[in-house]
Amino acid sequence: MSDHSLRTYDSILDLLPNADNPTPIVRLQRIPDFRHAQVYAKLEWYNPFGAVKDRVAANLIRDAEERGEKLENLVEPTSGNTGIGLAMMSNARRYGFAATLSNQIPLEKRTALRLFGTDLVELNDDLCPMPGQPEGAMLEAEKLGARPGWRELNQYANPANPDAHYRTTGPEIWRQTGGAITHFVASLGTCGTITGTGRFLKEQNPDVKVIGVHPGLGHDIPGVRARRALAVTDFFHPEEYDDIIEIDDEQSYGLCRRLHLEESIIAGPSSGLALAGALRTIPDEPGVIAVVIFPDNAFKYLSSFRKHLPDLFPPEPEEADAAPANPFGEYLEDAFELAKSGPDRVDVTEANRLVESGVTLVDVRNPPELEQVHLRDSVNLPLPDLSAGSLDGLPTDRSTPILTLCGVGTRSLYALLLLKAQGYTDVRSVDGGINAWVEAGLPTA
Ligand SMILES: Cc1ncc(COP(=O)(O)O)c(C=O)c1O
Repeated sequence: MSDHSLRTYDSILDLLPNADNPTPIVRLQRIPDFRHAQVYAKLEWYNPFGAVKDRVAANLIRDAEERGEKLENLVEPTSGNTGIGLAMMSNARRYGFAATLSNQIPLEKRTALRLFGTDLVELNDDLCPMPGQPEGAMLEAEKLGARPGWRELNQYANPANPDAHYRTTGPEIWRQTGGAITHFVASLGTCGTITGTGRFLKEQNPDVKVIGVHPGLGHDIPGVRARRALAVTDFFHPEEYDDIIEIDDEQSYGLCRRLHLEESIIAGPSSGLALAGALRTIPDEPGVIAVVIFPDNAFKYLSSFRKHLPDLFPPEPEEADAAPANPFGEYLEDAFELAKSGPDRVDVTEANRLVESGVTLVDVRNPPELEQVHLRDSVNLPLPDLSAGSLDGLPTDRSTPILTLCGVGTRSLYALLLLKAQGYTDVRSVDGGINAWVEAGLPTA
């Protein structure tokens, strides 16, 4: 028999949280520089599969089962955590599970998904595509979910996502704070957390302030979306929130590190983002009690921390000397790093000038991405084809000026290297990609 007070359970699924078995909230002792206001972190890695999205995975499946749907195989577009939750729920239920996701998601998350039994469909996609630029992972899941025996539960449109938080996260926080919460803060991804929890709390007390925090365009914080990229979810309801704050990567990763060092809390990047937003908005007044969602812990993001806190991780001497296991991969990465700081990147204004002067524009995104937004007179040569040796549609004269373009400027830089390896001498890559182009209001087809 399961007993929360003894923490003895009949099944791992009995650990799923609810008001009787909440994930912990912990008061931050050192970081908030407040005299009066109290700030609590709700530690969501105490969910059975390690993240806030376990609540959603469990509720998506419960909801479908209770409607009498016969589930066999599930497929979901995911930045990792919903996928891990759905993989484990599917293992428990003997369902098949496939996830579609961007190959820009940290390797740790993609590894965990495979390890936990997911059939992974990795796509050459941006971490956070702009609206109007179709998300490869979403389109692919829709396609796969339409096959017989398959079902896409779709966390971006299924009301069981915010409902998970309305049923569990909200009631837990209300009870844990004795109804005294004044501010609720969450980062914004599908917006299930903020919308479901916020609705429950405002129903208890309309004065509770609900605050959303998001990163900027081109960010590197898995699980959350830039303001404009929130258009893909049905659950972004800014009219229900009291404030929406933007926080950059540097602040997020920096605050995360302070959480590790000053609070001994093993928080992941989106927790740093949410806390940074909270500290910017919460008033330091008597009676203020804020609860901030910490969606998951640091361990799935070690490669991201290495990237964003380079001073902490000097190269190990043996690493530098040892023969790389995959020399080609290593050298390509090195070449890519050099190209990033090299002279061959142009900003969108310069790119526009080159386009007007008749440069050959090579868009290396996948064809469905171009359907929504592309530039006039561009050649579409997807990066996987280029990397397999195809030069379809390119000029045979290798001295022709070429401009490569993708979503945010990463794939186009790889394309630049590949074209130079093929002998093209005058190649440049558009910094910030089509996202920056659209953002700058430059003409599209
Ligand atoms: C690490 C992380 N942080 C934040 C979020 C955002 O939560 P929500 O989708 O409920 O807005 C997610 C969602 O996947 C996540 O995985």
